[in-house]
Amino acid sequence: MARQTRSTRTHALAKLHTDIRSCTRCPLHRTRTQAVPGAGPADARVMFVGEAPGRREDIAGEPFVGVAGRFLDTLLDSVGLARDRVYITNVVKSRPFVGPPPGRNRAPVAGEVAACGSWLDEQITIIQPEIIVAMGRVALEYFLPGERISRVHGRPRQHEGRTVLPLFHPAAASHRQALRDTLRADFQVLGTLLRAGRKEGRPRPKKVTG
Ligand code: URA
Repeated sequence: MARQTRSTRTHALAKLHTDIRSCTRCPLHRTRTQAVPGAGPADARVMFVGEAPGRREDIAGEPFVGVAGRFLDTLLDSVGLARDRVYITNVVKSRPFVGPPPGRNRAPVAGEVAACGSWLDEQITIIQPEIIVAMGRVALEYFLPGERISRVHGRPRQHEGRTVLPLFHPAAASHRQALRDTLRADFQVLGTLLRAGRKEGRPRPKKVTG
């Protein structure tokens, strides 16, 4: 099988987004406005993975467009990354909430993560990011089960041939000054990883089949 070109990967990702938008694998499809597959180029070096869409994302159909998203933009800026150069998604693609609609955002439960996880796996297979930034407890548990964010934040790990950088979730940090400072400092680790990767030369993307 030939190596995938950028345009082939872009098409594969667009098709995957279409499939995610019509997903009915868990009950969240009944209460969502729309699924939020993710956003960014199919050949991004960095993939950011959050928890699940909140109310604003559910309405907009785009990840991280609320307060947490604005904070994420300032963090990206601090390491010279434009939002349109990275891929941003969540472990769960439909909004979990409690209470009568519009309800309050909640963290996804294990069954929702299990139902949605293979979409994330497929995104990784297509994009082949050099670095995955796992933002918050849910993303950390997905990539490095059993680890605690308070212990491993800002410390890159190798996982299935790529670098996973655990960070506090920007929403958690937006409420707590101390966490904000920690997240800002941890984000500089991403800058260092990117510069180091550029020096070594980006590893060639693995083959994508299908
Ligand atoms: N929090 C998340 O985890 N994801 C979003 O897309 C927005 C807020």
